[in-house]
Parts: sequence; structure tokens; C-alpha cells
Amino acid sequence: MKIGVIGAGYVGTTTSIVLAKYGYLVTVVDTNQEKIHKLNQSRLPFYEEGLEELLHEYLLEGRLSFTSNIEDFIKQCDILFVTVGTPPLEDGKADLTYVEEVVSQIARFMDDYKVIVIKSTVPVGTGDKLNDIMMKELSKRNISISFDIVSNPEFLREGKALHDALYPDRVVIGCESEKARNIMKELYKDVDTSILYTTIKEAEMIKYASNAFLATKISFINELARLCEGKGVNIKQVAIGMGMDKRIGSDFLQAGIGYGGSCFPKDIKALLALASQVDIPMPILEAVSYVNQTQSDWFMEKVKQVLGSLTEKRIAVLGLTFKPQTDDIREAPSLRVIDYLLNNKATIAAYDPQGSEHVKKIYPTVKYTLTPLEALEGADAVLILTEWKEILEIDWKHAKSLLSNPLLFDGRNTLSPSKMVELGYRYFGVGNF
Ligand code: NAI
Repeated sequence: MKIGVIGAGYVGTTTSIVLAKYGYLVTVVDTNQEKIHKLNQSRLPFYEEGLEELLHEYLLEGRLSFTSNIEDFIKQCDILFVTVGTPPLEDGKADLTYVEEVVSQIARFMDDYKVIVIKSTVPVGTGDKLNDIMMKELSKRNISISFDIVSNPEFLREGKALHDALYPDRVVIGCESEKARNIMKELYKDVDTSILYTTIKEAEMIKYASNAFLATKISFINELARLCEGKGVNIKQVAIGMGMDKRIGSDFLQAGIGYGGSCFPKDIKALLALASQVDIPMPILEAVSYVNQTQSDWFMEKVKQVLGSLTEKRIAVLGLTFKPQTDDIREAPSLRVIDYLLNNKATIAAYDPQGSEHVKKIYPTVKYTLTPLEALEGADAVLILTEWKEILEIDWKHAKSLLSNPLLFDGRNTLSPSKMVELGYRYFGVGNF
């Protein structure tokens, strides 16, 4: 089986490396020539630990290759994974332009049976729509070639992409033909996990439902953190107590400044847009989104209140990416925080081990430092926005001597409040401590 992956982003690159690890011959195509050039030189176009070494190994062995020639690629591959982006449109709907374009191209160039595996996150009903596009394109060629569309949503987390792709909690395969099901079964034969076979629509919904549920847990604990702060209750203890109940579980119950990234915000918007198309109100999800959108402002109001005013205050921002171990800044809460600080005329020195270059393109006036300590020099307050190891392991005793005011706002509740107070800091977390 020769496998093709269309779209060399976070998902496509990780998928291709893992498939190569399982011994398949994998070719990846992307319209972005610069990405393909980099990948062919064993360089990842994004930061993700553990992937670059394998990329180098499999390129040398010839198990993995990268190209921008889509026509030859489609003809040569038996199974085609579609991993292109599905960004949000203005109205929140998922933009399917890239997925539809790819599927049209497959129909234009294929000359034998193909399994087209949709890994991109797409709304319920997209499988049917793609099927229609395929049929239309093939009829234009006056040709009848069989194909199967399969929905195989991806659940990997950036920052842990390799681990998640190698050891998934489950694999969901939505397909409606015996032939495609057998091919997918064979493809995943070495993956040690449960496989759930569903219809295409069910698989499409499982992806959105899973992300929406995880985001709900986050917004729930963040909302509760606000109440805990008002009532003098420590949210961390509350979360521990809740998480000990197996029915609840402790994951995604860490109060903070809200979720970000390329998936949760956009997938929730897309699910709400899908619901509104069929006039189904989803008040829970509306609230999840509202709490998230207001969480960083709520946090920043506290910063402003403690400092009196932010005008001409020097603020050290530690952490820019939406989570540690990635360089992804898409929808990162740090962007809203920087916006807030600039609107309030504060001066910012920011540090992030991987994300600074990307944020610099949006906010060129911010000073970006190469070390966390540089960002702290002369600061009136420190904000921790991403829990990078490099930030948590700062020598906080020494750091205090660099600050003009030992004021620490921990937007991720990651440092020990009692230890920081002992060191002489005024410490503020999220949810009363
Ligand atoms: P990305 O934006 O990093 O990569 C998409 C790639 O597709 C880009 O390199 C782009 O140049 C390429 N592309 C666009 N049109 C193309 C075409 N016609 N032919 C060839 N290549 C083309 O996107 P990412 O983050 O990998 O996400 C892809 C999909 O997977 C999205 O639907 C996303 O929601 C979903 N997903 C993402 C996860 C993540 O953690 N990033 C996790 C799970 C699902």
C-alpha cells in the first residue's frame, strides 16, 4: 500500500511520520513550496519534540518523501489522507475550500480506485458533500472509477503529537463500504488501541463533540474559579476533589486564562454554526465560548486593579504560545492579553522559547527577549501565560532582584503560592490563591 498525505501541517506531517514508522511508504504533498523544501532537508516547518529525528531517519531510508507535484502523487498513491486546514469563516462555519479543492484534484487526476481518508476536522455532512464533488468531477471526465470516502478524525494534541499519534486512546473510522473498512483495518493493524467503526457522519460528529466536551470542562472550571475568588475558596483544592471522582476525572480541570490553539475555539464556533443552520439552540456551548472569550479580560482586570493603572507600567509577559511544547500561537490567550496591555498603554517585554517570532509579526512594538530573566528587568509586574518548563524553572529568588515590583500573576496556576510569598512576592493566581 502506497500512502499519500495531502497537507504538510501539524496533523499531516505527524501522520506521515507515524505511518512511515509502521513501515508504509508515504509521500506528502503541500502547495507551500517553502514547507516542502524545508521538509526535504529534514527540517520541520513547526516545533514539535521528537518528530525531526524520525523525519530525518525516514527520509534517508526512503520511506518518507515530500513533493509539490500533486498529479503524479495522486496517480501513485492507493490511500490518500486529507489533512489540510479547515479554518473558521467570518460566521464561524468551517472553511471547506481547501478540503473541497483537494478532493476535486483527486477526482481530476486519479486513474484507479482510491480510499480518500478525511483527517481534517469537518462538519457533519461533509463526507456526503465530498462524495458529490467527486462524482461531478469524474462525470466531467466521462469516466467511472470507484472510490471510498472515509472519515478518520485526528485527536492528537500539539506538544504531544508524536505520543498521541503513536498511542491514541482510540481510532475512529467512519466508513460505509466493506472494502474501505478492510483497507483501514489492515492499515491500523499494528496500532495497539480500540478501533470504533461508525458511519461517516457519526465520525464527523465524534470529533466535534469530543473537543466541545473538553472545552466545556475548561470553561466550567474557569467560571467556578471566578466564583471561588469571590467566595474565598481555593479552586485548586476544589478541582482536586472533583477530579477524584472517576465520573468526572481530573483532566482539563485546571483553572487558567482560557483555552486557545487551532482547534477548540474554531471547532466550537463551527459546531455552533452547524446547530444554527438547523435551528437547534446550544446554550451550553454558547456559554463555553463566552466564558473563554472573557476569561483573559477577567484576569487582566485583576492585574489592572492591583496595579492601579497600566499606563506606562512595564509588564513582563512570560509565555506566548497557547500551550507549552509547541510554537503555535493561533488563538492563544496571550494575544488578547497583549492587546489589553497595549490598549492600556503598558510597555511589554515578552519571552517565549518558541512563539516570539510568530507573535512579533502581529505585535512588532513589543520587546521580545531571548531569556526569561531579560524580560523581567525593571518590570512592575510579571504575567505567566504559558507553563513552559523554562519559565517554571526560573530562579525566582534571583528574579526578584531584577524586578522593580515583586508582583506575580500566574495565569496558569503553576507555581507554589506559599513558596512565592515566602520569597517575597505578591502572588495572584486564578481562583483565590
Ligand atoms: P495546518 O494549517 O498546520 O496545515 C495545513 C496544510 O495544508 C498547510 O501546510 C497548507 O499549505 C496545506 N494545504 C492547503 N491546501 C492545500 C492543497 N490544496 N494541497 C496541498 N496542501 C494544501 O493545519 P493543521 O493544524 O495540521 O490542521 C489540519 C486539520 O486537522 C484541520 O482541520 C484541524 O482542525 C485538524 N486537526 C488539527 C489538530 C492540531 O492540533 N493542529 C489536531 C486535530 C485535528
